[in-house]
Amino acid sequence: MLKLSAMEGGGYYNQNSAMQAAGIELLLPIWKRVAQTVAIDQAPLMIVDYGSSQGRNSMRPMRVAIGELRARAGSSVPVEVVHIDLPSNDFAALFTALDGPDSYMTGAVDIYTSAIGRSYFERVIPPGRVHLGWNSWTMQWLSANAPDAPDHVLAILSTAPQVQKALAAQQALDWRRFLEVRSSELRHGAKLLSAFPGIMGGETGWEWLGGELWAAILDLCRDGMLSEAEALRITLPAGPRTLDAVYAPFASGGQYADLEIEHAEILKVPDPYWSGYKQTGDRRAFAECHANMVRAWAGPTIASMLAANRNPSAAVDALFVHLAERVAASPRQHEPFLAVTVLKKR
Ligand SMILES: C[S@@+](CC[C@H](N)C(=O)[O-])C[C@H]1O[C@@H](n2cnc3c(N)ncnc32)[C@H](O)[C@@H]1O
Repeated sequence: MLKLSAMEGGGYYNQNSAMQAAGIELLLPIWKRVAQTVAIDQAPLMIVDYGSSQGRNSMRPMRVAIGELRARAGSSVPVEVVHIDLPSNDFAALFTALDGPDSYMTGAVDIYTSAIGRSYFERVIPPGRVHLGWNSWTMQWLSANAPDAPDHVLAILSTAPQVQKALAAQQALDWRRFLEVRSSELRHGAKLLSAFPGIMGGETGWEWLGGELWAAILDLCRDGMLSEAEALRITLPAGPRTLDAVYAPFASGGQYADLEIEHAEILKVPDPYWSGYKQTGDRRAFAECHANMVRAWAGPTIASMLAANRNPSAAVDALFVHLAERVAASPRQHEPFLAVTVLKKR
């Protein structure tokens, strides 16, 4: 059974995803150009948000896309926005955010929004319907389990060759599968922006914070709060990609599944908590922001990997207290790499 769970519920991801929001800020100029150049033939226009989570970080890109499409197609053209995520996603938080003051729905008319709880490794939209696709910070998650890494919580940072090999093979399959199913959903001339953790010059940007998370897991093992078997099992089914991996399916002839790459680059995401820390010098607040951010995306998946007789919320609480203590002891900037790709359907 796949160990991946959705993000921490109860709106927690929305409250603790400023790192992802900082990456999206860098993507917005690229996304704006995508919306300005995509083919818009027939209304209603459809925008699909693949992997919305609880919606906080979808509001700005959806608002930008609607604004740009309507500037071209007419201010009253009906627009459908569909948010996709796993069935275990906190959809109540998404609908609450859609009804809130920061929503792209606020003050807008003729926007029709809906949500689908199904993996995007399946076809989720009927063929040829989508004009614009948005996909941020999701494709690091695998469609299958990563092999258990004996020396890290992040498979990509394991030194075990068999772990690296299996991760790369699964990521390659997943990227191809994602492209194939999206291609069937996109209209001719439609565009898709996909942005996920990247690798530049052999670095992911997670070396420090990921290393502290692994060290916090080992702390709990030493304290007898986790077993060695659990530490081995806690390997997050996720990983970043190089630009070479992004381009790999397009190697012969520049096309794959009727898609071509219009733009691809690796960006460095600034640490959204660093300037606050520099102003206040408050190590604890800085550390808690980072621990909460990691918990928001990794907490439920880690909880699902614990022994059946473990109290998962107590163990996960203790893990993130340890992580915060470690980060507070030696604060650093966390600046992960983000790979962005713009794809066009022929
Ligand atoms: C880190 S969140 C990103 C949320 C949002 N797009 C953002 O940029 O902040 C990753 C999301 O991808 C979703 N996800 C992972 N694998 C998925 C899949 N196969 N199908 C649909 N959603 C998936 C997770 O459930 C989670 O909500």
